[in-house]
Amino acid sequence: MKFLITGGAGFIGSAVIRHIINSTTDSVVNIDKLTYAGNLDSLVDVSNSDCYAFEQVDICDRSALDQVFSAYQPDIVMHLAAESHVDRSIDGPADFIETNIVGTYTLLEATRSYWQELEYSRKKVFRFHHISTDEVYGDLPHPEEDSNAKASLFTETTSYAPSSPYSASKASSDHLVRAWRRTYGLPTLITNCSNNYGPYQFPEKLIPLMILNGIEGKPLPVYGKGNQIRDWLYVDDHARALYKVATGGVVGETYNVGGHNEKQNIEVVHTICTLLDELVPKSPHRPHASLITYVKDRPGHDMRYAIDAGKIQRELGWLPEETFETGMRKTVQWYLENSDWCRRVQDGSYQRERLGL
Ligand SMILES: NC(=O)c1ccc[n+]([C@@H]2O[C@H](COP(=O)([O-])OP(=O)(O)OC[C@H]3O[C@@H](n4cnc5c(N)ncnc54)[C@H](O)[C@@H]3O)[C@@H](O)[C@H]2O)c1
Repeated sequence: MKFLITGGAGFIGSAVIRHIINSTTDSVVNIDKLTYAGNLDSLVDVSNSDCYAFEQVDICDRSALDQVFSAYQPDIVMHLAAESHVDRSIDGPADFIETNIVGTYTLLEATRSYWQELEYSRKKVFRFHHISTDEVYGDLPHPEEDSNAKASLFTETTSYAPSSPYSASKASSDHLVRAWRRTYGLPTLITNCSNNYGPYQFPEKLIPLMILNGIEGKPLPVYGKGNQIRDWLYVDDHARALYKVATGGVVGETYNVGGHNEKQNIEVVHTICTLLDELVPKSPHRPHASLITYVKDRPGHDMRYAIDAGKIQRELGWLPEETFETGMRKTVQWYLENSDWCRRVQDGSYQRERLGL
């Protein structure tokens, strides 16, 4: 199989590419605009493979997309390119509308033109897999307000009720994908996943931010009371789930992907502090929990997300391999051992070099 992956220089896209190149005989063309979130350093382990190619392309650029389809003739498109950070979407929603909605529309149209011209046998196997988030469902009752809250989970039929410009733009893109399936028959699949964590995540997101601030003895800023609940999935487990859905999922279906790990944000931060205390026994910042500071909550902050991932388990036999404890230990260890990757992100050299500055 030949995969066309959008957003492959990002956190999850690079994990998917490493999984495909290291664990399968398939090949990948990675198309990525290389925004601040795109980092080719995350692909150095696979970038010399004969099964890997990279093209710097904006998914809003239709003619560039047409050229890529024509040159690489993919069998499967996995669409991960997006603006993905909720806080940035609150400060400036325009890029989210452009990439997540207009970009998805442009990619769907380029895919449709390519797919319509495929010969019958290739047309039959072709798939367009759209990677989305559980945030499209809005939030769920919180156990502090409702004693039965734990019973409510997002399923594939939960109504959409996005809260932030990010989740609204992702919800829009999901609707476009569904419409292209229903109206034009494009063979699409959608996955909606909970929060990911693991190696190579950009340090503006909760877990890498807390790890790196903790290592450096900087404050660990926690929104509100820190009681917001998220379900956490180790990124390599997500990559395995995505590969299973793209290659074995039923066209037209949606699959929710989750880690069975509901945690309050403050619990996540305490786990990181405990791991840092243990793994860096000589740190002058021990106990790292003393660095925790509470800051004003994010506007419109969803209180709880939780996923019912039963369908992907029953139908495709996928289950996460990492528990929260094993995944978090691997993650903290990775950030401690990869200070060069972290430094190049933090000082901006990962971007300056490719811009020739
Ligand atoms: N991170 C999570 O916890 C999570 C959870 C569920 C779903 N998702 C979804 O998974 C996907 C990947 O998330 P991530 O965390 O890896 O994001 P990321 O921000 O780390 O990476 C996004 C990638 O897309 C690229 N990109 C942005 N705009 C582009 C454009 N116009 N054209 C081409 N490339 C562009 C960026 O350069 C970057 O490499 C997103 O669609 C996101 O909505 C993320």
